[in-house]
Amino acid sequence: MSEQKDIDIKYNLRPFEDPPVTKIDVQALRLQSLDLSLFKDGDEFLEQRKELANLLEKGISTSGFFNLVNFGIEPKQIERLRSIAQSILELPESVQHKYLAGAIKKEDEDPNVSIGAERAQGFKPKGYWPIKDGVRDSIVFYNFRDITKENTEEEIKRHPEIIQEYFEEIGNYYKTLRNVVQPKLLRLCDLILQIPEGSLQKYFDSSENNEDRAGSRGRFMMYQPYENENLAKQADSTFLRGHSDLGGFTYITSQPVLSLQIKDYFTGDWKYVDHVPGSLIVNVGDALEFISGGLFKACIHRVVQPPLDQRNSNRLVLIYFCSPNENSPLYPHDLNSPRLKELGLTKEDKLKDWEDIQFKHWNDIKGKVLGRRDAGTKNLLKFHGRSIERWHHIANDSAKSTTSV
Ligand SMILES: [Fe+2]
Repeated sequence: MSEQKDIDIKYNLRPFEDPPVTKIDVQALRLQSLDLSLFKDGDEFLEQRKELANLLEKGISTSGFFNLVNFGIEPKQIERLRSIAQSILELPESVQHKYLAGAIKKEDEDPNVSIGAERAQGFKPKGYWPIKDGVRDSIVFYNFRDITKENTEEEIKRHPEIIQEYFEEIGNYYKTLRNVVQPKLLRLCDLILQIPEGSLQKYFDSSENNEDRAGSRGRFMMYQPYENENLAKQADSTFLRGHSDLGGFTYITSQPVLSLQIKDYFTGDWKYVDHVPGSLIVNVGDALEFISGGLFKACIHRVVQPPLDQRNSNRLVLIYFCSPNENSPLYPHDLNSPRLKELGLTKEDKLKDWEDIQFKHWNDIKGKVLGRRDAGTKNLLKFHGRSIERWHHIANDSAKSTTSV
């Protein structure tokens, strides 16, 4: 038997069992699809890239979400990582507590010493967040920081043994997303904005080792059904309340349990996001919305109970949150985009109130605002000329939320 097989047996690696797709018609939203294998370098393929850019724009300027297919990572590789994630996330609580990202409960977090389990490296154990009326969350996750840079032996040793064992495989997945997949998406965004290809990449290039101080991180995340239907009801059938993501793009592995819902930017209706096997669900965060002057939409989304026939299943996702550098400007003026000029998304026109802030300012503000109960009341918060109402879960149904990502 090979050495790798022995290691896999030691950590009880086995396929993660997804339930079948739901038989209930919930009118799930089929996202705009983008086939990244059609992206080709070179001037001779510029028109082809522009066609792809048009498709991307349809997704990111409406729901703010799209489905990425054929992005260069084989489904079998993702399945293997999900097996690894499964074994990591089922480590006993006693082990999880040795590798906590923050406190065991959100209320015990001391902001002077901790940036919170949402942002730090390590486990967020189940029950960290209060959801409603004494019900606590039913989600366990593990955050990886600095996973796309070269880690020293000492840094790798800060993880649980199982992660040390698979560190290279996990790191390669996230490196491919950051260094191979994302640059292509950003070039398509450049084409949408009619600016030179490569312009937006500069906002994400690592410099001064600050890539993850700004909040980029990998996350393995498991949603477990509430222990009984009463608890689920008390929690309004919700696992994670409405929010927009903070950064640039977020990448989530698509899987059959329908749970993720998007709030329609224009109508306000909540819709389940449909599953496309082998795809990634990608969405725009606040920073990218600001950089594009509001053309790309960081839409509010949440995670709720799946349809009845999937309600007893665990839901396992691999996520990558990719933020721009902390000094990146969160306004579009420097880009001189003819497209944004045409749409009036400029300092002189529709963005008059926008102050020239950098990503670190928004990162700071959002960290402080999230979890504030009064952030749900109207007429309250406007920061740097940007109304938080648009980028925070302010709707009545989520005003009581204290959870965030
Ligand atoms: Fe999110």
